[in-house]
Amino acid sequence: MRRLVGRQGVGGVSLRRCERACACACASRYRVSFFTTHTGGSISTAAMHFQCSPDLVNGVHMRAAVVRDGKGNAEALHVVDDFPVAPLVDQVRATPGTALIKVHAAGVNRPDIMQRAGLYPPPKGASPILGLEVSGEIVAVHNFNSNENSNEMEMEMEMEMEEENDPFVRGLGLGSKVCALTNGGGYADYCFVQLNQCLPIPDTVSLTDAAGLPETYFTVWHNIFQRGRLQDGETLLVHGGSSGIGCTAIQLAKHVRNDVTVAVTAGSDMKCSACVDLGADVAVNYKAPDDSWDQALRAQLNGGVDLILDMVAGDYTPQNVKLLNMDGRVVIIGLMRGPKSEVSLAHVMTRRLSITGSTLRPQSARAKMTIGRELRKHVWPLWNTDKLKTTTDEVYALSDAAAAHRHLESSTNNVGKIILDCECGR
Ligand SMILES: NC(=O)c1ccc[n+]([C@@H]2O[C@H](COP(=O)([O-])OP(=O)(O)OC[C@H]3O[C@@H](n4cnc5c(N)ncnc54)[C@H](OP(=O)(O)O)[C@@H]3O)[C@@H](O)[C@H]2O)c1
Repeated sequence: MRRLVGRQGVGGVSLRRCERACACACASRYRVSFFTTHTGGSISTAAMHFQCSPDLVNGVHMRAAVVRDGKGNAEALHVVDDFPVAPLVDQVRATPGTALIKVHAAGVNRPDIMQRAGLYPPPKGASPILGLEVSGEIVAVHNFNSNENSNEMEMEMEMEMEEENDPFVRGLGLGSKVCALTNGGGYADYCFVQLNQCLPIPDTVSLTDAAGLPETYFTVWHNIFQRGRLQDGETLLVHGGSSGIGCTAIQLAKHVRNDVTVAVTAGSDMKCSACVDLGADVAVNYKAPDDSWDQALRAQLNGGVDLILDMVAGDYTPQNVKLLNMDGRVVIIGLMRGPKSEVSLAHVMTRRLSITGSTLRPQSARAKMTIGRELRKHVWPLWNTDKLKTTTDEVYALSDAAAAHRHLESSTNNVGKIILDCECGR
């Protein structure tokens, strides 16, 4: 992309009242000239546009689930109704490429439980309110604006930016319905999001079910395909196959690549059959009294595996390493059995193994933007082919967030996602 070269180190945002005849019913309209500095001192500029629903007048408050005393068990989670919305609107006004979503539903994830317990603090600048994914409607937005009234210089800049800025993101405006990976704040009536972490609602998916897609799809895409480099014809093992993450991993491995054999571990026969229904070829009940899970897997697979998506770690790691084929990879995304393991590095060396891992939330905005784009390109079209299924296990009202946490934590008979309905009781 060509860049307009400007003074080194200069950047900023200037606001002026919008004179344009917007089709939208925005209560406050501003043209925003946005200047970003880039390494080497070149500057990109583009016309940005802030729009806000007239309902979001000053003094509006919202409900949000918060943790009493900052951390605790599920009982510490309770809903307050006096959170001011204005600071969130101001944050959108001040930050190009962001939006405020009126939340329809929010997904519940294991990392929320860890955050509630004080074990997974939000990154700097992120909302302290729990909730990593939402679905809903955009009610304030600060987006690029292609408009025939742009002056010549702005139009040239917008055209240059178009190459870099995706049409889906540019098309998001007031009233757009989306699901989004958030940096926090989903258990609430309104949630601040980055536009390029939004995904369209597939035609075949309800707005409620869509709330359970972003966190698992972003995580699975990154760890199985970008980091784990799953190839056609390989064998994938997913520990915790019936978890929200596991249900997504089974389906993406089967439908994004060809001829992948998927094996899973899960904690009951019912959970194992649910994984098989989603496409798993081999499912081992890791709580079964007879064989250990790795012996049972070896017997059914007739060999080892090429990639392991591991949320268990701890004492599973030596068995994981032994199970891997030549050039095998293990990607660690959770530590359900603890962070410490002892493995024979001789296996790593002689079989050229890779042990890696990641956490999604602290990754850069650019990394998340890339994952979002790849999901829209390679995965979202699959929703039109009946290949993918949502796996909502149960929906709770936002006011019952504590019960939703108890359900996920107990891990008794849940398969897939637990969702909070944030419309209920509004
Ligand atoms: N790194 C990241 O970016 C990232 C992002 C999201 C989630 N995660 C992690 O991914 C995991 C799944 O998250 P989720 O939200 O989908 O939670 P979830 O539904 O609560 O899943 C937890 C899963 O762990 C399984 N598990 C526990 N002990 C096991 C063992 N010994 N062997 C095999 N499976 C075992 C459970 O299986 P049973 O119920 O059958 O016992 C359950 O399916 C969590 O560890 C979470 O922290 C990581």
